[in-house]
Amino acid sequence: QDDLIVLGIETSCDDTAAAIVRGNGEILSQVVSSQADLLAQYGGVAPKMAEEAHLQVIDKVVQEALDKAKLTETNLSAVAVTIGPGLGLCLRVGVRKAREIAGSCNLPIIGVHHMEAHALVARLTERELQFPFMALLISGGHNLLILARDLGQYVQLGTTIDDAVGEAYDKTAKWLGLDLRRSGGPAIEELAREGDAKSVKFSTPMKQHKDCNFSYAGLKTQVRLAIESKNINTTIPLSSASSEDRRIRADIAASFQRVAVLHLEERCERAIEWALKIEPSVKHLVVSGGVASNQYVRSRLDQVVKKNSLQLVCPPPCLCTDNGVMVAWTGIENFCMGRFDPPPPADEPEDIV
Ligand code: KG4
Ligand code: ZN
Repeated sequence: QDDLIVLGIETSCDDTAAAIVRGNGEILSQVVSSQADLLAQYGGVAPKMAEEAHLQVIDKVVQEALDKAKLTETNLSAVAVTIGPGLGLCLRVGVRKAREIAGSCNLPIIGVHHMEAHALVARLTERELQFPFMALLISGGHNLLILARDLGQYVQLGTTIDDAVGEAYDKTAKWLGLDLRRSGGPAIEELAREGDAKSVKFSTPMKQHKDCNFSYAGLKTQVRLAIESKNINTTIPLSSASSEDRRIRADIAASFQRVAVLHLEERCERAIEWALKIEPSVKHLVVSGGVASNQYVRSRLDQVVKKNSLQLVCPPPCLCTDNGVMVAWTGIENFCMGRFDPPPPADEPEDIV
């Protein structure tokens, strides 16, 4: 396993990422190129523009990953690449690059599921983590509660019926007029520290549904209405806002965050109950995906998990948001089980993917 060296490529959304990981879990390099500036300028991800941005940097990002690891393509054992879910145009950029390298160096290729990668990267950072385990995967596009029984065997306990929690963070940040050159989540997390989380009364989603599904569309509407009802000018950047204006925005951010996370807590609590009925030997809840880099989220979920005598496993923030390491690692896990595709032909036509 130590001689195995896998390149992981991730282009499913707005980050172009590549990393090189050894079979024993050693991270040899990690590179992420973010489209945050583009996002701030246009207020969201436009697929065609995101594709362009990936195309512009993909070669550079992969080369940098190789350089940082002091390797060349010929040292690789296999190439892993995200094949979904995500934006088709963006995924293609990564897949084309992966096939190009695999084809020219005669390497096996491993297609990786983005959400599986978010979950499995926890097995790289926490070597004790054995199957079966539970995972709460929270990002901009997904909200999933799963029971991972074994590699490739996942039972879905809950999913969102509308928006994901990261989307609610991003919209709240946008409506509060926060600086979006970084994504909305961190901006809300920071501002919420100054606010009173009990000051605005938002209702917790899906109280009457005794399942493990999520909904954030209603909370988003509640937040939008609350912002509209206050007399604040959100076109003024936070740094120039009056102290009263700033306090109102912080109170909304904190109140939103409290309820958004309370919803996660309630669903996790029930999911643990369900999961233990299916797999009584479950000991861990993995929390991963971009929103899992939030400290408030981590500490609240840690309490839920402890109360149920389980252990929380959260990868470090840079491995929670989209990255190439999780793709390379998921490639390694699958490769070791014999799950990979043979090298593509070296001279395949451009439009095969
Ligand atoms: O996993 P990820 O990088 O990309 C997707 O697969 O969607 O997650 C991105 C999401 C964004 O919605 C972003 O606002 C959110 O994760 N996020 C956070 C934090 N950092 C990133 N949300 C709350 N608090 C954070 N600190
Ligand atoms: Zn993601």
